[in-house]
Amino acid sequence: MIILKTERDLEAMRPACAVAGAVLDDVAGFVRPGLTTKQIDEFAAARIKDYGAKSAFLGYRKYPCHICVSVNDQVVHGLAGDRVVEFGDIISLDVGVFYNGFVGDTAKTVPVGGCSVQAQRLMDVTEQSLYEGIAQAVAGNRVVDISRAIQNYVEKNNFGVVREFVGHGVGRKVHEEPQVPNFVDGKTSPKLRPGMTLAIEPMVNAGRPEVKILNDGWTVLTKDGSLSAHFEHTVLITESEPEILTCRAKTLSKSKAP
Ligand code: MF3
Ligand code: CO
Ligand code: CO
Repeated sequence: MIILKTERDLEAMRPACAVAGAVLDDVAGFVRPGLTTKQIDEFAAARIKDYGAKSAFLGYRKYPCHICVSVNDQVVHGLAGDRVVEFGDIISLDVGVFYNGFVGDTAKTVPVGGCSVQAQRLMDVTEQSLYEGIAQAVAGNRVVDISRAIQNYVEKNNFGVVREFVGHGVGRKVHEEPQVPNFVDGKTSPKLRPGMTLAIEPMVNAGRPEVKILNDGWTVLTKDGSLSAHFEHTVLITESEPEILTCRAKTLSKSKAP
């Protein structure tokens, strides 16, 4: 069942998404060569707490960290630990918070200090594919219109879009219906209606689309060792243009938090 959010729900959910966006920006600004991924996770935990929020990921299916930190060929769900990030690495940061009883879910990939031209192109294409998807997130379209726009843009740029993990509805829980694939899967696809809140989140590999899971049970890696990037926004379907709820500057002016 797809849960449509009321205006009252959205009054609570907008600030939750604004907090997620703010934490993501704060953490991205903190990233620098020489830090361990554990230090990055601890910084995120402190920022989440400062905003009076809670991590939506810590403890979710026993996930052990506050945010997801995925380096280079790690696609998503990287676990924070002793790994030191170096100049030239790219690092995907995924923040989910509970605030006001709702979840905000947002991610981006950033370079550590600097990166190769190819890595920057991967990040640019992945981010743009997210906006290509968001442009289709309008009432009357179907979820598959989002999926198709993302896949077409990624493949036109000769990168591989990950199939095994998908976007999703988001609200009082991290994962609600519907699934929002980043490719056309041929299944029947729900119509988009005002009040739906979707986490749209392309995961894009510089090489082949296939992934594998590390023996820690969480970390998703590219099978071919190529770099991977991940961008995500929580988006509201409206009567007109989609509203990006996790866009910090925009949502801050509409809400009291952070
Ligand atoms: N960040 C993922 C998403 O965007 C969910 C994380 S699951 C967790 O949907 F287990 F890592 F928390
Ligand atoms: Co996420
Ligand atoms: Co998500």
